Amino acid sequence: MTSISKSANLEKTEQVHRVLLGKKQILVTEEEPLLIQLERAGIHVEYQCREGYCSSCSIKLLWGSVMYPFEPLAWVQSGYLLACCAIVKSDIEIAFFD
Ligand code: FES
Repeated sequence: MTSISKSANLEKTEQVHRVLLGKKQILVTEEEPLLIQLERAGIHVEYQCREGYCSSCSIKLLWGSVMYPFEPLAWVQSGYLLACCAIVKSDIEIAFFD
């Protein structure tokens, strides 16, 4: 007798959130860090380490929430996020330095 199990991917409920950046809007999931998803959407973000060490990917978080699957070593200034390791947890609005 053969048993068939559902794929883990089918059982996941993918959370999709809006990221507002000026007049642009992209949809992101909680499956990957924000940096990867911004790049995929053609939005250039400065970065160096991509692992939470250098803070070169720091972006202003105007509103909304993100979380970090691990504590970044770089200092995260209040009102900013580290795109390389931030997981978006709600609709958010971001801005590059003004
Ligand atoms: S690229 Fe270094 S902290 Fe994000």
